[in-house]
Amino acid sequence: MATTEVRISLEDVKQAAAQVEERIPEPTTVVIFGASGDLTKRKLLPALFHLEQAGLLPPQFRIVGVARRDLGKSFAEDMKQGILEFGGVKEGEEKLEEFVEKIDYHAMNFDDDNGYAGLKELLELYDREAGTRGNRLFYLATAPEYFADIVHRLGAHGMAKPEVGQARVVIEKPFGHDLESARELNDDVNTVFNESQVFRIDHYLGKETVQNVLVFRFANGIFEPIWNRNFIEHVQITAAESIGIEGRGPFYEKAGALRDVVQNHMMELLSFIAMEPPASFAAEAVRLEKIKVWSSIKPLNIFDCVRGQYGPGIVNGQKVKGYREEERVDPQSQTETYAALRLGIENWRWAGVPFYLRAGKRLASRVTEITIQFKQPPMLLFGGHTHGGCSEIQPNLLTMRIQPDEGISLRFGAKVPGPQMAVCPVVMDFGYAQAFGASSANGYERLLLDAMLGDATLFAHRDGVETTWALFTPVIDAWAKKFPQTFPNYEAGTWGPECGEELIGRDGYRWHSVAPKS
Ligand code: BG6
Repeated sequence: MATTEVRISLEDVKQAAAQVEERIPEPTTVVIFGASGDLTKRKLLPALFHLEQAGLLPPQFRIVGVARRDLGKSFAEDMKQGILEFGGVKEGEEKLEEFVEKIDYHAMNFDDDNGYAGLKELLELYDREAGTRGNRLFYLATAPEYFADIVHRLGAHGMAKPEVGQARVVIEKPFGHDLESARELNDDVNTVFNESQVFRIDHYLGKETVQNVLVFRFANGIFEPIWNRNFIEHVQITAAESIGIEGRGPFYEKAGALRDVVQNHMMELLSFIAMEPPASFAAEAVRLEKIKVWSSIKPLNIFDCVRGQYGPGIVNGQKVKGYREEERVDPQSQTETYAALRLGIENWRWAGVPFYLRAGKRLASRVTEITIQFKQPPMLLFGGHTHGGCSEIQPNLLTMRIQPDEGISLRFGAKVPGPQMAVCPVVMDFGYAQAFGASSANGYERLLLDAMLGDATLFAHRDGVETTWALFTPVIDAWAKKFPQTFPNYEAGTWGPECGEELIGRDGYRWHSVAPKS
């Protein structure tokens, strides 16, 4: 196996860091609604502390958690534990105590006007005492049914359009559950906040490897000329998880794989792979190209969309329950925990190139990757000589490993040393960890920073959200009308149901991602 090595000098890293220095936001208070949930402790606070460590937060900075429970001072201590446990941070780390001092808590019901009045007073107090200058980033990490109400009440209490400073709102997924509900929510949000104040978050866009898809394509001259139907046979995107639903039964019962990850995370990945070079890396320009791709997807054919649900099985050597036996899940549930589909993009670049997508829970391993399979050479000079396991010439594959083991590899044929012209596939590999060192960042760092700076490039726009819902709503409706009789149709710890293999197999291909590299 051939391996390339990328070496980065300290000077390179310093230079890159110098470029981000100017990206320090204005003094700000981050207000997290639904702060008692897991997301705040596991992701948001560790990410904010990473920003602090990197010197990317303004000194005049406050965080206030908002939730119903009366947590008082214990909230800040709990967040500190989260930073230590999930942020790769050690007790006694420089800046940690000072950072924890900036964390506050405000208990209120999301429909209680007195609570909003109290919150407003608290924020004004920070403006006076901590110099946060009226800038707020409201982060909605509550259950989605509260989004519209919170937004309206923020508006009614004068917090959406402050006289001094900037108010911005970050909205977690799921953003709607079909086209109609997404439109309604967009209307609700846009009656209170202008679109330029709204940041619909998809944490996949915070992943370095996802952003790197754009860098790979548009910062290198050699790939773009072959990035089209003339050279590419098909594209596969896999988002496989070995975990189950992690106690989120009521949420997942209503969501299912298609709504939970395909309509958002996988569509974002697809857009980065398929879009035209944007005019610039500004939010408007990138958004435009993404929407063009999604609008060029042919209406999905229901026969090209398959689903599955896991039964009991063995994952990583441990016996695990089937989906229907999970806590707070209907024992007759028809919710899909696996979805695979084939779609076509009808434009000059991609006409005739199938895109295969699959996502599932309780699969054999955790791997998110994109594989581009290139066309074979027009005639094969070599072949017929067997060597080890390989007897046929294999197509070139470019694999972008989003996670884990982040990196990019290119498979090509090489001559096996010896008297015959035997060809064997070998791999050139770039690994993030080897090139840049391991990172404890979780992706929210970049997105939180961008939201504070008002840069929406890596966030979903209302038109984009509605375009992807428009694509999937007919499938969701058709699936809801006709329940599969075969559920559960795959064993936990396998690569999913037979129908997922058939979907790609009937075109003569197979899924390439089978396991992360050890
Ligand atoms: C979330 C989904 O958006 O993404 C989860 O709700 C899923 O069900 C998660 O597990 C996957 O994210 P990641 O970053 O682990 O790939």
